Order: sequence, then structure tokens, then C-alpha cells
Amino acid sequence: MKVCCKWLASANGILATHAHESDQARRQQLGFGSTEDTRRLLETVQRYAAIVMGARTLIANLAEWLPLMRTGQHLWYIPTQFQQSYQHLLPVLQSCRVVWVSSAVPPGERDSYLPSSFAQLPVTICQDAHARGLNHLLVLGGAQIYQQFLDTHTVTDLEMTFSPLLLARGIPLQLRSTVQLELMEMTQYASEVYVSYRVLNSSIGSEPSGGVGSPG
Ligand SMILES: NC(=O)c1ccc[n+]([C@@H]2O[C@H](COP(=O)([O-])OP(=O)(O)OC[C@H]3O[C@@H](n4cnc5c(N)ncnc54)[C@H](OP(=O)(O)O)[C@@H]3O)[C@@H](O)[C@H]2O)c1
Repeated sequence: MKVCCKWLASANGILATHAHESDQARRQQLGFGSTEDTRRLLETVQRYAAIVMGARTLIANLAEWLPLMRTGQHLWYIPTQFQQSYQHLLPVLQSCRVVWVSSAVPPGERDSYLPSSFAQLPVTICQDAHARGLNHLLVLGGAQIYQQFLDTHTVTDLEMTFSPLLLARGIPLQLRSTVQLELMEMTQYASEVYVSYRVLNSSIGSEPSGGVGSPG
């Protein structure tokens, strides 16, 4: 199984929050996320069958992702502790293949909910995707979700783009894990650097047919 975390960071490794990101004009003004990086992100997404996106990230970027969600090409796992806060989204997401991942599953709603304890979130999602035959999982954030996947070693690949910005605000990744990385690619765009790594000590098999282990 392949599980990839992909993000866009400043040169000092800070993830922009939606205050910077949600407004395309503001993003361009900051020089955050070039057209080339956006193109590459969309190409990458096409190689994955399932996507994980925290509820907060989804809300912050809904307008950008909704057209893709509505194509029905991907299964979207949306972790949230408070799904009732997002009831207003249900009609908007009606035609999308969405699975809410939560410890609190409303009765009679099992089809579009995946029960998971907070600590088991990454493993639960990986096992569910594997059971559905979806062996390519792309984790698109945000910071809380990246941290949990990395801390539990349920990541096989990392892709990141660094923009030539030094951000004071935003979300630094606070990791507990000792993920070991092997550099696979480094490409310079006009002003950005794209880097991809393979995770050497992932707890899950990186082959599409590989299983899903327990967190290390
Ligand atoms: N620069 C980048 O590449 C990039 C990428 C993605 C996102 N972002 C930005 O990052 C910001 C959001 O990041 P974030 O860290 O605040 O939020 P996030 O990771 O998108 O989502 C966090 C939310 O997910 C739910 N959650 C987290 N862990 C869970 C678990 N174990 N089980 C169930 N639910 C869980 C909770 O939702 P509830 O609060 O609803 O319970 C939590 O508040 C946004 O501004 C977004 O634009 C940047």
C-alpha cells in the first residue's frame, strides 16, 4: 500500500493556514503555490484512489476541491470529532464519495461514516482503504492530520514544495516520530523547490498489494 503526505510549506517549513491560502489572489501576492505546483498537485491527485483531508482543511479550501470531489473519482476520508458542526455541508457534498471518520457515529449512518478512536485514525483509514481495494491513499492535510499519520509511521511517501517565503504565522509540524527518509526527487520550479522522499521505516507495505500494519 502507498500512503503519501503532500504539502506546501514556506522556506522555514511552516504550512500556510487558510488565512493565507483560501484567497487565490492573496496566495499569488505572497508567491505561495505557483501555477506549476498547482498543476503538479492535480497530476498527483489523479494517481490516487482515496484522499484524506481534515474537516478544517476541507472547509478552508472547499471551493477549490469541490469540483474534483464531484467527479466521484476519489473516495474522500474526512476526519472530524464534531461532524454535527458540518451538517450544513451534507447537501453540498451529496454527490461526492465522502466517508466521515469519527469516534461518534450517528445511529443508522454507518454507510458514510467510519468509526475510529482518535489515536487509531491513521491505521483505521489505511485498513478501510485497503479493504476496499484502494491501495493508493493521498493525505492532503492539514497539520493535525499529517502529524498523526507521520507519528504512527503510516506513511510511505512524502512530497513537499517549499516556497521562497519566511512565514511567521501558520502551522509548524510538531512531530514525535523518527521518520527516516530517502530523497527520491528534487526539482526546482521558477522560484519553488519540490522534494519527494520515500519513508524507509514505514509500518505499512509500500507495494500496492502490501498490507497495513500497526503503528510503530
Ligand atoms: N500548506 C499546506 O500544504 C496545507 C495543506 C492542508 C491544510 N493546510 C491548512 O491547514 C489548516 C488546517 O489544519 P489543521 O491542522 O488546523 O486542521 P486539519 O488537520 O485539516 O483538521 C483537523 C481537524 O480534523 C479532525 N481531527 C483531527 N484528528 C482527528 C482524529 N484523530 N480523529 C477524528 N478527527 C480528527 C478535527 O476536526 P473537528 O475539529 O471538526 O473535530 C480537527 O479539528 C487550514 O488552514 C488549511 O488551509 C495547509
